[in-house]
Amino acid sequence: MTTPAQSHAPLTLTPEQERRIDEILGRYPTRRAACLPTLHVCQEAVGWVSPAVVAYVSQRLGMAASEVQGVVTFYTMYHQAPVGKHVLWVCRTLSCDLRGGKTMQEHLEKRLGCHAGETTADGQWTLKKAECLAACGYAPMVQIDDRFYENLTPEKLDALMDRIERGEMPAQEETAWTPNQAS
Ligand code: FES
Repeated sequence: MTTPAQSHAPLTLTPEQERRIDEILGRYPTRRAACLPTLHVCQEAVGWVSPAVVAYVSQRLGMAASEVQGVVTFYTMYHQAPVGKHVLWVCRTLSCDLRGGKTMQEHLEKRLGCHAGETTADGQWTLKKAECLAACGYAPMVQIDDRFYENLTPEKLDALMDRIERGEMPAQEETAWTPNQAS
């Protein structure tokens, strides 16, 4: 993973990452149509969409850098700055808020010692607020990295985060279909 100081150096991908991008490009009728998955491969490689990533994708797909940047700023799943080891999105749209989303965010800010949009001092967690993540029937929920955890309480969330900090990655099925007692 590159550091912010290295973010302006030309992007170098591994042969496997280059092969994945070649394979992605082969799926689409035009190169620019592959912009989203290509950005995902690069973000996975670098940890965020650095200026070097934008320059690489722009050159590789034949797009203006401003067009690539427009895509990056439109979709919230692309990180526009370095993030921690884990990214936790707390949903703050209506269904989640009615069932404790705000309490969940306040609990997280206290536990992590940072506000939404910030990364913990130890670099373990980046806390972000999300708009509806399409799991409203299981509110309140959060997304940690690429997994959804649903029907949460602050206690359930603490237990999940404790396990993640110990190196586990709980299956998202563990919290699906298990309404909390307060419901
Ligand atoms: S409001 Fe939270 S998932 Fe829809």
